[in-house]
Amino acid sequence: MLTTENPHWQSGRKPRLLVVGTGMMGREHLRVTQLLGWADVHGIIDPFPDSAALALAEWRSLTGEPLAVYRDVEEASRDSEVDAIVICTPNHTHFGILQAACVSGKPILLEKPMATNLIDAVRIVTLAKEYPACIQLGMQYRYKAQYVDALHEIGVQGTLGAVKTISMSEYRPPFLDKVGQWNKFNTNSGGTLVEKCCHYFDLINVVAQSRPRRVYASGGRAVNFLDFEWQGTVSDIDDHAMVIIDYDNGVRASFTLNMFSQELYEELVVVGERGRLVASEQASFRSGMPSSAHLQVEVPGHPAYRAVRVGYPDWIEQSGHYGATFFEHVAFNQQLSGIAVDAATPEEALWSLIVASAAQHSMRVGSAVDISKFCYQEGIGEAFEAG
Ligand SMILES: NC(=O)c1ccc[n+]([C@@H]2O[C@H](COP(=O)([O-])OP(=O)(O)OC[C@H]3O[C@@H](n4cnc5c(N)ncnc54)[C@H](O)[C@@H]3O)[C@@H](O)[C@H]2O)c1
Repeated sequence: MLTTENPHWQSGRKPRLLVVGTGMMGREHLRVTQLLGWADVHGIIDPFPDSAALALAEWRSLTGEPLAVYRDVEEASRDSEVDAIVICTPNHTHFGILQAACVSGKPILLEKPMATNLIDAVRIVTLAKEYPACIQLGMQYRYKAQYVDALHEIGVQGTLGAVKTISMSEYRPPFLDKVGQWNKFNTNSGGTLVEKCCHYFDLINVVAQSRPRRVYASGGRAVNFLDFEWQGTVSDIDDHAMVIIDYDNGVRASFTLNMFSQELYEELVVVGERGRLVASEQASFRSGMPSSAHLQVEVPGHPAYRAVRVGYPDWIEQSGHYGATFFEHVAFNQQLSGIAVDAATPEEALWSLIVASAAQHSMRVGSAVDISKFCYQEGIGEAFEAG
């Protein structure tokens, strides 16, 4: 199946990737590239020797192919051996690294969130408009099995009729250890709702099919990392939030985050004129615990009226993020061959960031945030007007 669907099949040539940042996510990209087999990884860059060494060791366990190790992003990106670039470094480095990689004019897969602030996010959108190749954003939750099916039912099949309400939630354990503990500080991550929840705001925006008009959020720091210090600085990240979003077309949405749960549970509930859809996933950070995802479509006569199990084959699910990264690479390879895909664009990533940033602002000021005013206040009024 994979051989015939390989978009590079006719050219007979595998594109060669450069992976910038080989921490947890960079190594997942290396693994998935090998597993899919449509592209090769030509080289990596990571200034932290342990990350580079771990990536090289994992690479050798996967393949006998060589892996170049570069030091400079601009130079590596320009190398004629490199066809496309995957950026998976900490959030606060995305904009600078993207600028360096863009001198190459080559296709780029940029991890989420695109940036830690809205000004840089808008700069990326502007840059992407003039850029000669694709810039795909790493909002790969779109490719989790239950959301692929949900988006198909809602957007393509129109099963629910006009969507009226959307409720999304994530319950999960605390943020994991990262290299230099960058994710324990808002200045590096952009804040919890930006870092973690841009995935969910992206999904909610896609289902709503409209622009957010007003956001209210309540949340803060209850349990996690309250006394955590790294190199003399105390952690300041939030661990829970409840967010309400009103859309221009009248759709109402809510999002709940809790990061002091033992296990992972995600749920999307969408209700339209004709019925209710529930897409859910029970998973665990404990090794050896498989995830279990379900789709339920309470519309008379629908075959999934009672919940049905959805998912990918185990070998795909186990490659990372329950198979979503694998299908993100399928989409990226398709883009490399000029095939249009449903991967997140820079504009869509910006709108997920606008909701996340407005929610964080609402938590600080304690009142609802008008998105139009907020965008002007943040210096991105023109981007808001451009829609
Ligand atoms: N799509 C998803 O679901 C998902 C999941 C996890 C992480 N991410 C994103 O992936 C990115 C990386 O996260 P992670 O979990 O791998 O973090 P990590 O800390 O495990 O790894 C980051 C790596 O980047 C390296 N790095 C730092 N500055 C660099 C630079 N200038 N050039 C090259 N390498 C550099 C670090 O040394 C480290 O090895 C983040 O943006 C994160 O939000 C996305």
